[in-house]
Parts: sequence; structure tokens; C-alpha cells
Amino acid sequence: MNKKSIKDIDFKSKSVLMRVDFNVPLDEEGNITDDNRIRAALPTIEGLLNQGAKLILMSHLGRPKGQVKPEFSLKPVVYRLSELLKRPVKMANDCIGDQVQREVNNLAEGEVLLLENLRFHKEETANDSEFAKKLSGLGEIFVNDAFGTSHRAHASTEGVTHFLESVSGLLVQKEIEYFQKVITNPQKPFLFILGGAKVSDKIPVIENMMDKADSIIIGGAMAYTFLKVGGILVGSSRTEDNMIDTAGKILEKAKAKGVEIVLPLDHLITNDIKSASEVKTTESVSIPEGWMGVDIGPKTIESFSSKIKEAKTIVWNGPVGIFENDKFALGTREIAKQIAVSSATSVIGGGDTAAAVLKFGYSDSMSHISTGGGASLEYLEGKILPGVAALADK
Ligand code: ADP
Ligand code: 3PG
Ligand code: MG
Repeated sequence: MNKKSIKDIDFKSKSVLMRVDFNVPLDEEGNITDDNRIRAALPTIEGLLNQGAKLILMSHLGRPKGQVKPEFSLKPVVYRLSELLKRPVKMANDCIGDQVQREVNNLAEGEVLLLENLRFHKEETANDSEFAKKLSGLGEIFVNDAFGTSHRAHASTEGVTHFLESVSGLLVQKEIEYFQKVITNPQKPFLFILGGAKVSDKIPVIENMMDKADSIIIGGAMAYTFLKVGGILVGSSRTEDNMIDTAGKILEKAKAKGVEIVLPLDHLITNDIKSASEVKTTESVSIPEGWMGVDIGPKTIESFSSKIKEAKTIVWNGPVGIFENDKFALGTREIAKQIAVSSATSVIGGGDTAAAVLKFGYSDSMSHISTGGGASLEYLEGKILPGVAALADK
């Protein structure tokens, strides 16, 4: 990466303002259900503390929209962070103001303070310059390790870079390096696996990946709209009929470019998605009236798996079925397993895809699982991430 990172700086005795993405999922009682984003920031945090930095961490949690809402407090995070770091972590009850400044002034070398949710102030998402100036006043240097928020030009990701020397943390560096490697210099064959619910969400990413990948697998609910292009009946499966034309154009474009598009051959279907009392596999690619596709079928698992076996580089975004329901999870589980056993470089992007890989226990077998949902998608779309672009060049 052509950006300065923490490796280029001496942090001894420095007050370091660091943006992290601790926007982790919480259950109804406020327990963290997936702490991967906290774990992923540990190497940078530990690296800076061990060098004798005074570390000020800031993050958002959820979308409180400028209001102080206790259910969006970062308190559950401070406990988990302290457990993982095996040292005390102080917590401020706001992210700006005199009290916060005093707590920052009291930090000793090797100590860490977590600020309260940035989005309790509406100025954060508005990228308000005065607010960014106040935040930046807390530190002498800015580190961005919030890859998951780097597609947002907010005060704590972009705004502060106008006031402080700004470098990347190790997580941002690792994420960018993995994505850059697979996008700009993939070992061939390069397979892109796309799934998820909506075609409309994923048009820009297919368009961009068509110039990079040798083959594109399309699964999930998206596939039904693509099948409809060829007049295939898909019953009451989730489709976007206003996207059929667009899907048709994508198929034509792929053909012209020599990119293979791999669609499902059969499906797992149900006539009642809620109770899932009747679930069966289709004989062919079409789905009878009154039934809807909820996962890929066995022939498709085989066909997708053989593509995975041939690939040397795999990028996967989007589950191929409604994996949240165990009855509809086999397809996504098998895709995860085939990627896990493959020796290809594998990069997993997308919040739900990462959750699926974690749920099925394959996290350790992937080359890289991105901590970014929206951020990884925007990177794969070929967009510039403002939180990364704003960092100092090497
Ligand atoms: P990611 O967060 O990894 O980018 P998406 O948000 O695009 O993934 O898609 C994930 C969602 O797609 C999941 O909630 C899953 O239930 C849904 N999905 C996958 N297959 C189907 C299907 N056949 N019908 C309806 N929803 C589906
Ligand atoms: C995410 O979870 O994708 C990031 O933390 C960004 O959150 P946002 O979509 O609310 O900006
Ligand atoms: Mg999602």
C-alpha cells in the first residue's frame, strides 16, 4: 500500500488518536455476539501500547443519529476489549469536551482510553469540520484502523486528517493489501462468487468484477432474477422484475468479454418460508408455482464446487441461500467448506458472508475475512475509500 502506516512512525510518549470500527453486533441484552472487529484491531492497539503510546480509541456503534441513546453505548465493548488486551481500558462518557480532555491529559504511557460513541453527535456523520477539529485536539497523531468504516467520509475518518498527520493501522493495511492483491494481480483462474438477496445492491460489483474475474458464480436470491432472463420459471422466489433487463445486459456483456457466468442448476424450495415444514429439491432449474427458492440444490453444489476446485483466487461476497435458517443453510455451508479446503487465495467480503463463514466454523481456513461489509463491497466495486485515501502517502 502506498500509504504511511504505523510502522513508519515512532510512538513513544505520543498521544495517539485512533479510529477503530467497534460497531459489533449486540443481542437484546447487550451482549456482543461477534467480537471479530475488536480482535482484528488488537495488533495495532498492542503495537502502539508496547511502544509507549498514550492511546485514545474512538468508534461508532449502530446508528443513533446524533442522539445519546444508552443502547448504543460502547460500554459492552470496553469490557471485552479489556478482557482481550489483558489490561485495564478506561472509558470516557463522551468523545469531546473538557472532561474528556482531562482524561486524555491523565493518560500515562501504555494506557488506553475508549471514547463514547461518536455518533451521539450528529456532526460525526456530517463530517463537520469544527467537530473534527475538536476530536483531533485530543491527539498528536491520527491512526485509522477502522477498515469497516473507511467507505464513510465522516469527521473521525476523513475530517480529522485535515488537522493531524494521519497513518494507517495494521488492520487497514492488511485489508487493503489482500484486496489489492486479488484485484490487481490475481493468480488465475480467478473465481468471483456472488450471492445475497438483491441484484440491485450488487450491479456495480458485478460490473467491476467482470473486468477482473475469469468466472462469476451467481447464487442466492439474486440468481432467480438472472434465471428469469432466460424465461425460466422461478415460482414465488424473491426476484426484482425491474432488474431483469439489467441482468440480461450483464449476461450479454459477460459473454462478449469471455467471462463465464455460472448459475444454479437446481434449488432447495419451500411453500412456506416461515414454518419451512415442507422443503424439497427441484428436479430441474425451474421452480413450480407457489414455491420459492431458499438455497441451491445438490447439482448446483456440485457444479459450484468444481469451479472452486479449479480456482487459484477466490473472492466471495453474498450467501447462496437463507443460511440464517439451518434448514436452508447447506448450500452456503458447502461453499464455505469447499473454499476452506481449497489452496486458492480466498478473500471473504460482506457482513453476512463473514457471519456465515464464522457460523460454520471455517474462519481459520480462509486467507482473509474482511471486517468490512459496506467497505469491502465498495472496494470490490472499484470505488475509492475516503478514509484510506485521506491518509498520508508514503
Ligand atoms: P453480505 O452482507 O455478505 O454482503 P448480503 O447482505 O448481500 O450479503 O446478502 C445476505 C442475505 O441474502 C442473507 O440475509 C440471506 O438470507 C439472503 N439470501 C440468500 N439467498 C436467499 C434466497 N434464496 N432468498 C432470500 N434471501 C436470500
Ligand atoms: C459497518 O458495519 O458496515 C460499518 O461499521 C459502517 O456502519 P454504517 O453502515 O452505519 O456507516
Ligand atoms: Mg448484508
